[in-house]
Amino acid sequence: MTTAEDLVKAALDVAHRAYAPYSKFFVGACIKTTSGQLFIGCNVENASYGATLCAEASAIATMVSHGEQHIAEIAIAGLHCNQTIIPCGICLQRIREFSKPSTTLLHLANPQGKFVTYTLEQLQPYSFGPEFLETAK
Ligand code: THU
Repeated sequence: MTTAEDLVKAALDVAHRAYAPYSKFFVGACIKTTSGQLFIGCNVENASYGATLCAEASAIATMVSHGEQHIAEIAIAGLHCNQTIIPCGICLQRIREFSKPSTTLLHLANPQGKFVTYTLEQLQPYSFGPEFLETAK
């Protein structure tokens, strides 16, 4: 069984492979899907700063490429934080697309691997998601 500690460790490991020459802020993410598969990602910056990919986006893209779309848990870790990382608002929205806000868990870690766990709903109490678009069809 993969524990939250395992996910945090995988997020910290992949953070070391981040490409972050501009911010020097190395981030890693590890998703566990509802089927139990794991997908990692790290931030990939660009000289054209706006083209930067966040760690969460990178992990989500890998998950979707492998045919998985349901996030049960995601661990996120930053290597140079003096506190547990908080995902950016855009990444909360990206996670929202593939989550059930009341049950999807986010494990937010510091560089030492200490983490706090929240549901997506706790971090983003009012959120826009795919179901809003149903009424437009
Ligand atoms: N970053 C992430 O990868 N995820 C977040 O949730 C916050 C920010 C990255 C983007 C950029 O490469 C660096 O951290 C500084 O913003």
